[in-house]
Amino acid sequence: MNKKNDLTKRMLDFIYSAPTAYHVVDNISRDLLKRGFTELFEGDAWKLSAGDYFVRRGDSAIISFRIPKKSFKGFHMIASHSDSPSFKIKENPEMKAGAYIKLNVEKYGGMLCAEWFDRPLSVAGRVVVNNKGKAETRLVNIDRDLLMLPALAIHMNREANDGMKYNAQNDMLPIFGDDKAAESFFALIAMEAGVKKKEDILGHDLFLYNRVKPTFWGANEEFIGGSRLDDQECVFCSYEGFVNSKAKDYVAMHCVFDNEEVGSGTKQGADSTFLKDTLERICDGLGKTREQYHMAVANSFMISADNAHAVHPNYMDKADPVNRPVMNEGIVIKYNANQKYTTDAVSAAEFKLLCKEADVPYQTFTNRSDMPGGSTLGNISTAQVSVNTVDIGLAQLAMHSPYESAGSRDPEYLAAVSKVFYNK
Ligand code: CO
Repeated sequence: MNKKNDLTKRMLDFIYSAPTAYHVVDNISRDLLKRGFTELFEGDAWKLSAGDYFVRRGDSAIISFRIPKKSFKGFHMIASHSDSPSFKIKENPEMKAGAYIKLNVEKYGGMLCAEWFDRPLSVAGRVVVNNKGKAETRLVNIDRDLLMLPALAIHMNREANDGMKYNAQNDMLPIFGDDKAAESFFALIAMEAGVKKKEDILGHDLFLYNRVKPTFWGANEEFIGGSRLDDQECVFCSYEGFVNSKAKDYVAMHCVFDNEEVGSGTKQGADSTFLKDTLERICDGLGKTREQYHMAVANSFMISADNAHAVHPNYMDKADPVNRPVMNEGIVIKYNANQKYTTDAVSAAEFKLLCKEADVPYQTFTNRSDMPGGSTLGNISTAQVSVNTVDIGLAQLAMHSPYESAGSRDPEYLAAVSKVFYNK
């Protein structure tokens, strides 16, 4: 494996070790502590000086920042999201069906359903346990092949290849065991959470995840396959740039929000006050005036980093006739006239200059004019704090499948441009 792919390899390990948004934030905070960052809590007073800090909200969003030694002009932020589409375990999930125990789940986000069939799945997330009368949050990951969602045989549905319609309540419930498994699901979770009985679990946010390991593929290992590339690829690559940078004239900020896949409208989502609160408290904690805060925000720049669609070789006509991103050809700048993406002439120009400085290629994405696209973090977070923002991402295929594909060389590009941006 060449040196370029070393970062990509580490990224795939990071993603595999983070089956849920909670694990993403936990992995990052552990790493930040090792690097000497100080954790701040929203419920405490902040007294700040030049140095490295982070703050979490709701176990699944995290903002890390480096305050430079000299007086700063503004904030340099890269935002990405920790969550990916999945199935959430419902309350009282065990359901008996003949000789089987299935789990009752519901959709989280908009996923491709078919790709969840016929592969080992497991469960991860957070639980809140009763620790001697106190509610305590613990992360869990049943790190083995636990569940399966077997497809219906072709003999029982001859039309299966003519397009399937999946009913989330009827078709998407994975098998947990035979009838001997009854009443054991939460006992298993309790054991993993380090408590004695299932009654000690007071609350749970548990999700299914795909157990198939990430891989390099293609004639020259030019591609990667793995779960949750949208958007952990951007989380990891911008983080790599962040920790290897030295803030000079701007506060460097790495922002990871949850719940992008369900509209960002939660207390830990991009549409919350988390970013605004943090920016204000950085200024307050440094003894800045209200006017200095507004000046800093006006001088700030945000890169909203969320993966982009590469042109698919079997569906070329689904892409715009001209703006057709290709995997491994650099960072994708996303444009939309209706401002679903925040990119405008000014922010695109700023970003292109950064790419040139980092010696990184860039390309462009727009949706077909007759096709509505998805939206992302940029326009949502600017509703809370108005900052000059560009929407970018890395080109990928099979977005929102539990196993996506991307270019193995692109992560290096995003890490490089992030570092240049943060070093300003
Ligand atoms: Co995304």
